[in-house]
Amino acid sequence: MFDLFQRVGQKDPNRVVYDEPVDSLAELYHEASKINEQNSPSLSRHIGEILQRDFYLKLISRPYKTYPTSNSTALPHSFEGTPLSASLKELVLKRRSIRKFTGNPISLNALANIIFHAYGVTAKTTFKPGIDQKVRSVPSGGALFPLELYVAAHNVRDLAPGVYHYGVEAHSLEMVREGQFNAQLGRALFFEDMFRNVSATFVITGVLKRSFIKYGERAYRFMMLEAGHVGQNICLSAFALDLGCLMLGGFYDDDVDEIIGIDGVSETSLYTAAIGTADL
Ligand SMILES: Cc1cc2nc3c(=O)[nH]c(=O)nc-3n(C[C@H](O)[C@H](O)[C@H](O)COP(=O)(O)O)c2cc1C
Repeated sequence: MFDLFQRVGQKDPNRVVYDEPVDSLAELYHEASKINEQNSPSLSRHIGEILQRDFYLKLISRPYKTYPTSNSTALPHSFEGTPLSASLKELVLKRRSIRKFTGNPISLNALANIIFHAYGVTAKTTFKPGIDQKVRSVPSGGALFPLELYVAAHNVRDLAPGVYHYGVEAHSLEMVREGQFNAQLGRALFFEDMFRNVSATFVITGVLKRSFIKYGERAYRFMMLEAGHVGQNICLSAFALDLGCLMLGGFYDDDVDEIIGIDGVSETSLYTAAIGTADL
């Protein structure tokens, strides 16, 4: 990390940018945590085994700390607030992971709304006179916005099936490749049956370097935290539109990278979401 900062400092300050090699621990860690065909059998065996043990289930059924000897203050359950906060509470209560979809199409308007709330531009700020920065629906460490948003449309009215990249500036969908990729994504995300009825799949990717040149190794944390913000906005917007959503963090990295057309090194798939009409 310090090495990178020193090297950056020695260069022409106007060239500080994205052509520096990163060689970071973050990249190594990311690589080491990828799921692939070699390690997935032992990972799924391990998960299957621990889920069969009552001891483990009891352990994970209580995933929080308590301070039994400290003075505690009971919190009220009643909720008094503005109409906006009441609907936020309703949404938060309504949110559940949905694993069964009807296969009905969703509208382009619904998709556009989810995208806008996920990572759209909501305001403009000024770094310094003459250098503006557009800020988004989520907070971002240093306003560096290291994420990109892709959506694979499977069954969206008025939108050809295909993989699209979110064009932030124009609030548009830029086609990356045309075609129906729900079967491929179903395999890559370990939900083949469910994906027959998923209407759209979001893939949040990260371009680590955007944050790394400022924050070094800490950038990895910031990038992942931001992906969580975007994921939550995707999820809550879907529920606000009466749609269902499943956030998926387990997938064959290389396969998802390939489907959306990224190299998996300078830009990596981080988090995905399946969207559709919930089959309740
Ligand atoms: C980071 C993250 C990754 C997840 N990955 C998966 C996944 O790969 N497969 C899956 O079925 N669910 C996944 N989930 C959903 C969780 O299983 C689910 O949130 C949890 O069981 C709680 O249920 P609820 O969302 O209905 O409250 C993930 C959730 C999060 C936050």
